[in-house]
Amino acid sequence: MSPLIEKTAQTSADLHPLISNRWSPRIFDSSYKLSDAEATSLGEAFRWSPSSSNHQNWHVVILRSGTDLFAKMSESGLMGFNQAWAPQGSAYAVLLADTKFDGEPRNQGGTFFDVGLAASQLVTQTEAMGLKAHYMGGVNHQIVSDIVGAKNREVICVIAIGKQGTTENQSAEIVEREVAIRTRKDPAEIYSIDSKIA
Ligand SMILES: Cc1cc2nc3c(=O)[nH]c(=O)nc-3n(C[C@H](O)[C@H](O)[C@H](O)COP(=O)(O)O)c2cc1C
Repeated sequence: MSPLIEKTAQTSADLHPLISNRWSPRIFDSSYKLSDAEATSLGEAFRWSPSSSNHQNWHVVILRSGTDLFAKMSESGLMGFNQAWAPQGSAYAVLLADTKFDGEPRNQGGTFFDVGLAASQLVTQTEAMGLKAHYMGGVNHQIVSDIVGAKNREVICVIAIGKQGTTENQSAEIVEREVAIRTRKDPAEIYSIDSKIA
């Protein structure tokens, strides 16, 4: 069997493996089923994220493979190339932001920031459980909203979650993207330490 691809971040500084080993695969083991305990851990990781004034203006819907809602997401919720690989995963985590807070228009930027933090915490928990996650902005927001019954919430992003699979029996197009080198801008473009921006 072909090996699992590893894409650890190439960095000269120490990083926790939960950070350095996180990457966004497109090959998942479609036979893997997310257990009740795993699904609950993901929900709790999201729930225990910090938020501005502890407003918690968010919700996550976790849809597991084998359910009607997962099938609907796979059939009509995904856009473009996401349709080719994401349905192999074991679950979709649909991230939602409340559109109002106490009946008033919410602080848009603040709420988006909070949902991003909670999403990252969910992904870190995914990694800690030996699974992988892949964020997807490429979804049909209206259809996803209808599938999960979002009502007064806005779809921000969907995360495909599952156990990483091998390249065996995968299309050349998927394998090509899977082995592509991970890149980042130079450190000086991204962070500054004890100095103004260069
Ligand atoms: C908000 C967000 C939306 C994304 N949308 C997609 C997507 O629709 N399809 C996809 O294949 N990757 C998507 N990605 C994954 C990024 O392309 C990926 O994180 C980036 O290239 C860095 O690669 P790495 O996660 O492997 O380090 C998205 C990532 C984020 C954070």
